[in-house]
Amino acid sequence: MIGVKSEEEIARMRESCAIVRDCLAFVRERIAAGMTTGEVDELVYRFIKASGAEPSCLGYYGYPASACVSVNEVVVHGIPDGRVLEEGDIVSVDLCAYKNGFHGDGARTFRIGKVSPEKDKLVRVTEECFFKGIEGLKAGTPLYDIGYRVQKHAEENGFSVIRAYTGHGIGREMHEDPSVPNVGRKGTGVRLEAGNVICIEPMIACGTFRVKVLPDGWTAVTLDGRPAAHYENTVVIREDGVEILTL
Ligand code: MF3
Ligand code: CO
Repeated sequence: MIGVKSEEEIARMRESCAIVRDCLAFVRERIAAGMTTGEVDELVYRFIKASGAEPSCLGYYGYPASACVSVNEVVVHGIPDGRVLEEGDIVSVDLCAYKNGFHGDGARTFRIGKVSPEKDKLVRVTEECFFKGIEGLKAGTPLYDIGYRVQKHAEENGFSVIRAYTGHGIGREMHEDPSVPNVGRKGTGVRLEAGNVICIEPMIACGTFRVKVLPDGWTAVTLDGRPAAHYENTVVIREDGVEILTL
């Protein structure tokens, strides 16, 4: 069952999502070579707390940090630690804020200094995949049209789509129904309704889409060690389009 949120609930989500948006902008201004991924997490923790919200990720199934900080071949769920960011890295920062009973969720991939042309294109195309995914999206759109559009754009650009992780509904819980895959067949899946709130989060790789999880139980890396990128927003389905809450 995909929940339909009332305007009052959406107003609260708008607030949680604005914190996510502003926190990502705050990180963008500060992230740089020489910083550790743990220091990025500290920025996120302090920003979210100072905004009167809670970092939803901290303690989620035992997750030990406020943000997922995923460098290069790490696809998602990189645990912040003493790893030092270097010029040429691409770093995805994924975070959730909980306030007034609702979660917001968003992710960006940042370039550290000058990156290779391949990584540069990967980051650009991953963002574009999100915007392709929401093209024409509105009440009545079949759910898997999103994945169809994301996959088409990624593959046309020579990249592959991670299958092992998906987007998701969001609201009072960080992960609600439905699962929102980034691959799919056009015209299939449940028809979305006005008031559904979902996170659309393409995870795109330069090489294989196959991943493995490291022994820490979280860190997902590409099997071939080639780079991956991630871009995510929380969106409300409307009668005539979408409202993006984390932009
Ligand atoms: N923010 C992630 C998502 O997009 C979830 C992170 S998992 C956690 O769904 F354990 F870090 F919380
Ligand atoms: Co998410």
